[in-house]
Amino acid sequence: MEQLSRALVALLALVAAAEAAAAADFDGGDDVLPFHYDRVFSFGDSLTDTGNAAILPATAGGPFSRAPYGETYFHHPSGRASDGRLIIDFIVESLGLPQPTPYLAGETAEDFRHGANFAVGGATALDPAFLKSKGVTTFVPVSLSNETTWLNNVFHLLASSAYEQSNTNIMASSVVYFGEIGVNDYIFALFSNRTAELAVSLVPDIVAVTRSALTVKTDLHDSINTLTSSFTSNQ
Ligand SMILES: *[C@@H]1O[C@H](CO)[C@@H](O)[C@H](O)[C@H]1NC(C)=O
Ligand SMILES: *[C@@H]1O[C@H](CO)[C@@H](O)[C@H](O)[C@H]1NC(C)=O
Repeated sequence: MEQLSRALVALLALVAAAEAAAAADFDGGDDVLPFHYDRVFSFGDSLTDTGNAAILPATAGGPFSRAPYGETYFHHPSGRASDGRLIIDFIVESLGLPQPTPYLAGETAEDFRHGANFAVGGATALDPAFLKSKGVTTFVPVSLSNETTWLNNVFHLLASSAYEQSNTNIMASSVVYFGEIGVNDYIFALFSNRTAELAVSLVPDIVAVTRSALTVKTDLHDSINTLTSSFTSNQ
């Protein structure tokens, strides 16, 4: 298991490095966005995680918490499965905002005033219990359903604080970045059963759960609709 998790983290780190290299071309310069935003919320796996896996007991102390991770840009391991910055870092910088707090590193409304990053390295789209029922063994107990639950927690904190009074205000002043998710489901499936069949059989479920997370089936729904129409009327 230890070996498997190392191999996985290494593989995910490689993908993150490739993504970070591609991100170097991203123009983080002129702010052309029509609105001012106060915070960023982000979802995903190791390609977007800026510190949660380093805190989660199941993954804390992984290879990304040691050199050479973080050497070049941060000059210390930053909790990212990358030496440098991730796409989310470039987005946050280009918005001129402070880094959103990794969800597991925060507790109070003040902690999440500038948003929250819910992404966890190794997270799956599908719930571990569901994957287990399909014969897929996972080792990171976080899926999209955890990440959307965490978003709700942060909304409730912010809505009951002095920072924001309503979900509509929170959504209207937030950028939501939905990072890559689902690759770990396939990787775990391939490790659990070395045929492509099992991994392929998960595709419809992964698409469905990702789609449903994107439309957040909670009390945020009205706020998101409001935000969508304000975007449309401003285009
Ligand atoms: C994710 O959600 C599941 C199901 O509710 C729960 O058992 C698990 O503890 C959660 N993971 C974390 C890290 O909170
Ligand atoms: C792998 O998956 C295939 C297709 O679902 C199944 O027939 C086979 O029994 C599985 N093998 C193992 C070792 O789980």
